[in-house]
Amino acid sequence: MSNSELFSEQRSAEVVVASLAETPDPRLRAVLSSFVQHLHDFIKNVELTEAEWEQAIAFLTATGQKCDSVRQEFVLLSDVLGVSMLIETINHRAGGATESTVLGPFHMVDSPPRALGDQISLDGKGDPCLVTGRVVGPDGEPIGGASIDVWQANEDGFYDVQQPESIPASNLRGLFTAAEDGTFWFRSVVPRYYPIPTDGPVGELLRATGRHPYRPAHLHFIVQAPGYASVTTHLFVDDSPYLESDAVFGVKPTLIRSFPTVDDPDRAAGLGLPNPFRSVDFEIALNQA
Ligand code: BEZ
Ligand code: FE
Repeated sequence: MSNSELFSEQRSAEVVVASLAETPDPRLRAVLSSFVQHLHDFIKNVELTEAEWEQAIAFLTATGQKCDSVRQEFVLLSDVLGVSMLIETINHRAGGATESTVLGPFHMVDSPPRALGDQISLDGKGDPCLVTGRVVGPDGEPIGGASIDVWQANEDGFYDVQQPESIPASNLRGLFTAAEDGTFWFRSVVPRYYPIPTDGPVGELLRATGRHPYRPAHLHFIVQAPGYASVTTHLFVDDSPYLESDAVFGVKPTLIRSFPTVDDPDRAAGLGLPNPFRSVDFEIALNQA
């Protein structure tokens, strides 16, 4: 073995990448090799100190230790670094469909099935809101039977899973099925902006960098139908603070809607809502799978 094949500052990435040459899976080999190259470039670029590397290891250890069945601090870290949004955007170039955005950590795998028109606000907090919409395909054709999975934070800015002792389970969640003409509707409350969890390492990172933790007000949607590519997205409230500085970079202009006030006692009574109420309409377009 010649000295030129051994590890050195100059050849560090090259030597480690060479050690991956026999990786049987070509994609794993390519991803790991690129990762090693960029990691070594980064360390050389900032001339990382031993103390800084120890701090980084302690930070990642604490991030892992903060995770449990309802808290995913690594996803949160990926969110605040813009990694979740970048991966989401690369993998779902819209091509006519409704744009996607981050899933976030508060989705429930088994959302409660609901009938069209149901009230999803179980704690009754917040300004009443009528949500209507339609699911369509690439040519504007209605997609009857599409599933519409919805979740949002309450008036205080919390999801049910964050405060199980005080918020009823399944508050502000619902799994709806679109009618034959692709339409859906339900009753809810206007969501409020809220902070992402800051009681862990990600909160420390935000404080150390002078960043705020807020997300602008939004409803989450996952819309799926057989034969179509599903869309994971948000509906943002146009008069919410933080639309310009979402802590997780999730805002796309095409997803912002106004929530006008409706003052119509007869209509409110017919819908089972107090008068006046707010309303929003969201057409969701899916691409063919
Ligand atoms: C959310 O919108 O639920 C969310 C997204 C990313 C991080 C934290 C919360
Ligand atoms: Fe959210």
